[in-house]
Amino acid sequence: MFQRFRRKRLNKHLRALVRETSVSIDDFIYPLFVRSGKAIKTEVASMPGVYQMSIDEIIKECRELKSLGIYSIILFGIPDVKDSIGSDSLCEHGIIASAIRSIKEVHPDMFVVTDLCFCEYTDHGHCGIIDAKHETVENDATLKISASQAIVHAKAGADMIAPSGMMDGIIETLREALDSNGYENIPIMSYSTKFASGYYGPFRDVAESTPSFGDRASYQMDPANRREAIAESISDEAQGADILMVKPALAYLDIVREIKDNTSLPLAVYNVSGEYAMLKLAQKHNLIDYERVVMETMISFKRAGADIIISYHAKEVAKMLNS
Ligand code: PBG
Ligand code: ZN
Repeated sequence: MFQRFRRKRLNKHLRALVRETSVSIDDFIYPLFVRSGKAIKTEVASMPGVYQMSIDEIIKECRELKSLGIYSIILFGIPDVKDSIGSDSLCEHGIIASAIRSIKEVHPDMFVVTDLCFCEYTDHGHCGIIDAKHETVENDATLKISASQAIVHAKAGADMIAPSGMMDGIIETLREALDSNGYENIPIMSYSTKFASGYYGPFRDVAESTPSFGDRASYQMDPANRREAIAESISDEAQGADILMVKPALAYLDIVREIKDNTSLPLAVYNVSGEYAMLKLAQKHNLIDYERVVMETMISFKRAGADIIISYHAKEVAKMLNS
């Protein structure tokens, strides 16, 4: 029988020549959690290696990231004060705006992406304004303040805005707001297909954003729905998104492939907190060859069609790739 590549005859070089998928540190965005104060670096119990940091520590962290070849970060803010509308995120002296300005001052070469949402800033922990009577998120009122938050980020120097609240019409709203304020060149990376997922558990510990009542099922997607998942991303493309995203990553690689085959936009995956925590725990108990499994996981994202990987593993991956 004719075989072009007999696996058993593949030597190292031929194996590299015929390899279909590769992972590069250029593919990664590293998440950072910023809070006020000085010299604060608090490890998150459920996510070893992930910290809440004050701005001075974030600045140091950026230096280390650059030395590893990581130039892209996504920022999440933990404000001192939370209220019903997330005022801290709408204020030019809020935690995220302050962090962006300081980072850009010291590290102008860092590509700073901002997560645009309200769950980290509201006292109820939901991703938008709440209609108190009905205990539901008010979509259109949330769109208005989302536009304001985007302008606050842009003014502070953000390089890309990533709305994660899954509000209807958010991309169109933000594009219009950015354009009419002179920020035509700031791209939007949409959390376009975001599932209501149990995998976000540890993140809500770090960001202190667990909803005080109800859940996010009225605005995040049902994990059982494939067609709806594809349609959500395609709709965001039509509204003017520059990059689409699937979140979480691991349990949704079929969705990644299908969106990839139906768009010409770049596609990101968010390798979320629960996925990270699972591998970390397995590592701690010596259940797996940790580095091997991390790389295998990253390859699976690329193979499924992801161009960009947002991951808490980014620093570890950089070290592996460099050695
Ligand atoms: C905010 C947001 C969340 C994550 C990213 N942006 C949490 C959520 O929707 O509850 C999760 C990231 C992770 O789990 O690592 N909307
Ligand atoms: Zn949110």
